[in-house]
Amino acid sequence: MEVIQSISDLREKLKSHRDNGKSIGLVPTMGNLHQGHARLVESAAEENSITVVTIFVNPLQFNPGEDFENYPRTLNEDIEILENLNCDYLFFPKNDEIIERRSSDQALIKAPQISRILCGKSRPGHFDGVATIICILFNIICPTTAYFGLKDYQQYLIIKKLVSDFRIQVGIKGIETARDKNGLALSSRNIFFSSKELKIASQLFFSINEISKALHAGNKNFKILEDKAKRQLSIAGFLPDYCSICHANTLNPADSNDKDLVILVAAHLGSVRLIDNLRVFLNH
Ligand code: PAF
Repeated sequence: MEVIQSISDLREKLKSHRDNGKSIGLVPTMGNLHQGHARLVESAAEENSITVVTIFVNPLQFNPGEDFENYPRTLNEDIEILENLNCDYLFFPKNDEIIERRSSDQALIKAPQISRILCGKSRPGHFDGVATIICILFNIICPTTAYFGLKDYQQYLIIKKLVSDFRIQVGIKGIETARDKNGLALSSRNIFFSSKELKIASQLFFSINEISKALHAGNKNFKILEDKAKRQLSIAGFLPDYCSICHANTLNPADSNDKDLVILVAAHLGSVRLIDNLRVFLNH
């Protein structure tokens, strides 16, 4: 694996692969890699000739007071993980290689409406920052296919819409969430939990599973199910942000005729804001 820091070096390498007809799989990350990222890299490597992973903690997607400064940065460990996967290039650019030095003057993409609800409501501008960095990376790398974790389900839908609206020629693939033995979705931020908090954290998946069971059993009292889950989370020690049963494509609140649903949840535990979701297909 080659570690590359400059845009021009990466462009040059990838151009020669492209000229030789090779497909390029891209896995954009912010580092502190775990098994969830490994699955993305494995899928990219299986389906493409060349695999590029990027590590860039993107300041544009953090609001003031969020954890940009404290976001875990573990380059050496990340390189070791990637060396054991079939990754060809790690692109690890410096901040000013990627975004305008005075970040207040950086051109920004306005993410579509679907970015203003759920996580976008609590983190205004977050998805504009994500959309912007993803466009920058797509412009540098011109991947055949890019891989994203479905844990960030809203992000995945926004990126699909971005690519469709801007006519960007890249396939977008969502990869199933990797979980620990208690069901907790793997996340770079889990390292901030104490062992006691880690146990509590798995309640998040438990709550959305309970909702899923109720939906499969024919319960369509969405509001009551959402409120009950939020209450359970509060009792367990979380500060719930939202728990919403939505249509899986539009993220509109679920309607009793909808069959393809997603349950999305976000809650704070200690200093960490956790998110998770569960897709539910109903046949009644
Ligand atoms: O999901 C993430 O880690 C980030 O939002 C992404 C897609 C790498 C953009 O910075």
